[in-house]
Amino acid sequence: MRTNVVIIGAGPAGLMLGRLLELAGVDAIILERKSPDYVLGRIRAGVLEQGTVDLMDRAEASTRLHAEGLIHHGIELSFDGDRHRLDFTKLIGRHVMIYGQTEVTRDLMNVRKAPTIYEAEDVELHNFDGHSPHVTYKKGGITHRIDCDYIAGCDGFHGVSRQSVPEKALTTFERIYPFGWLGILVDQPPVADELIYAHNARGFALCSQRSHTRSRYYVQVPADENVENWSDTRFWDELRLRLNPETAKALKTGPSIEKSIAPLRSFVAEPLRFGRLFLAGDAAHIVPPTGAKGLNLAMSDVATLADALIEATIEKSQAGVDAYSAKVLQRIWKAERFSWWMTSLLHTFPETGAFGRRIQRAEFDYLCSSHAAQQSLAENYTGLPS
Ligand code: APR
Ligand code: PHB
Repeated sequence: MRTNVVIIGAGPAGLMLGRLLELAGVDAIILERKSPDYVLGRIRAGVLEQGTVDLMDRAEASTRLHAEGLIHHGIELSFDGDRHRLDFTKLIGRHVMIYGQTEVTRDLMNVRKAPTIYEAEDVELHNFDGHSPHVTYKKGGITHRIDCDYIAGCDGFHGVSRQSVPEKALTTFERIYPFGWLGILVDQPPVADELIYAHNARGFALCSQRSHTRSRYYVQVPADENVENWSDTRFWDELRLRLNPETAKALKTGPSIEKSIAPLRSFVAEPLRFGRLFLAGDAAHIVPPTGAKGLNLAMSDVATLADALIEATIEKSQAGVDAYSAKVLQRIWKAERFSWWMTSLLHTFPETGAFGRRIQRAEFDYLCSSHAAQQSLAENYTGLPS
């Protein structure tokens, strides 16, 4: 087989890249190791920046998003019960859209016409440091080979693409946080119209939502915590203790339909191009979820990569592919900074002493009293220019 671009991974990054190339007349084959149901079964966040909504429009995959997505004009921060609303629209004239990442993935799957090979095992990348790369994979016990011009590694943090890069050619930067997020999904109306990010001496908490009838809640737990230790009752009791009393009283509880613990990590790989191989999305970087940047960063990566690969394939110009790594890393590090800052402000760190807690409080008080600080948070949360 031969194509212009082999995309490894059919998560949101790979599917969006595939769609943008398809619409530009660039051939691309997506190889995904799991089944479509498995990919759609993963519960992920759902805060979309305007840039991501615009990209879904460009991909002609946004009908359901505009019909079912919820526009949020702000968020609430709560610090030891003291509440402060940030009105993004008043502050900087922008907003975000609440629409699950699973739905984004489903919509991109539904519009795709070009081939996606699911359950492709043992994907291997070859000769991407030369002029004629190829990829092999196994399916039905047979080994297949695809010759191509470029390979896009959109296979997430544990994927084969970054692992295929020689160690000496790659530099990685990492911060692993000493805690995780225990999250539940419940078919109950959300406790508030907007998201609530809460700092509390007992730990962080987040009140989020998927729709007017489905809610998502998180509490900070130690990194080695076991989800088995958490009954729904224990979860609700702990969440109430971390929220402002009025919010706690308004909580509509019920049986969880999903419950899991996600570790928190900041990670960046540099560079993001190795000859004919490009990394994008979680294959290139991980952000802690506190800034709601994971999906949006993956989308802005592939928007830049798609333009570069279209330029290289259609106009035979290398300018975009040569500039790709430096360009997206600029935006990646700004999103990493914001996500780390939100995590540092809102979580309790075992090693933080009394001085550290006073600093967190002062950071919150400054934020509540400074229009400029609020605008800065609003700019970062709604999405920095790409
Ligand atoms: N071969 C083929 N496919 C693979 C391989 C492999 N060796 N390894 C992983 N994959 C697939 C995974 O099964 C997954 O479907 O690559 C896909 C990667 O998708 P994601 O992990 O969703 O990564 P990405 O598309 O970059 O999306 C980033 O996902 O984790 C969230 O917060 C993150 O929102 C961000 C978004
Ligand atoms: C979610 O809805 O799952 C969610 C929302 C905002 C975040 C993280 C997760 O910052």
